[in-house]
Amino acid sequence: MNYKITILRKKSSEEPSYEQTFAFESSDDAQTVAAALILINRSDLIDIEGKKADPIAWECSCLQKKCGACAMVINGKPGLACDTKLKEAADKNGNIRIEPLRKFPTVRDLICDRSILWENLKIIKAWIEDGDDVTLKEDKETVLFDAGRCLQCGCCLEICPNFYAGGKLMGMSAMVPVSGMLQKLTPQQSKELRKLYSKHIYNGCGKSFSCRDICPAGLDIEKLMVNSNAVMLWKHLIK
Ligand code: SF4
Ligand code: SF4
Ligand code: FES
Repeated sequence: MNYKITILRKKSSEEPSYEQTFAFESSDDAQTVAAALILINRSDLIDIEGKKADPIAWECSCLQKKCGACAMVINGKPGLACDTKLKEAADKNGNIRIEPLRKFPTVRDLICDRSILWENLKIIKAWIEDGDDVTLKEDKETVLFDAGRCLQCGCCLEICPNFYAGGKLMGMSAMVPVSGMLQKLTPQQSKELRKLYSKHIYNGCGKSFSCRDICPAGLDIEKLMVNSNAVMLWKHLIK
């Protein structure tokens, strides 16, 4: 199939965005957007108008849906480039549009600065201190396992109508790791976290769970949140 891949590009964070379209031919139905970007960058880059172009800047690491680095917006939907097949993403004329995640500052082309995700985890203190006396609660291995599968890719934040970088709502990229921690902490140990949970995860979330449908790790975000709300909020209100 002959594809026309349009990329929303930017030379640096200070410069304006521009679009550039590349022709790409592939007969492999399983070829991903990531594979196409790698192959396009390997050639002498000429755009569809015949102009020389700079290599497309984008991030990847595992190419196996495990690291979240290649998250981008493909035809208006956030997803992983290594998990999105060209054939499925393209319209019937082979057109595909790729943009960087829009909720984070663009560094260059498809690379954005997602450090807010880590800053938020620092604010909410989403880790267990060395020497903390923690015991895994019975039958909670599945929750802990699921929480550990979050890629910190930011796709859930991209689609969230209430998240903006630096705002109060930290979204599901913060809730998921916290849901795992809760399986280990005693109520006493999670006292401070409880306040932060209300402020940054529970309040401001509309609970429509469009983030669940977009999560490339396939996490049941709703289930994890219901579980976390029960531990963090309801049990303490009922007491
Ligand atoms: S919850 Fe899902 S979409 Fe959100 S950061 Fe984790 S893996 Fe990505
Ligand atoms: S449930 Fe809705 S408001 Fe809450 S984090 Fe997900 S997308 Fe955002
Ligand atoms: S490169 Fe790691 S998830 Fe795509």
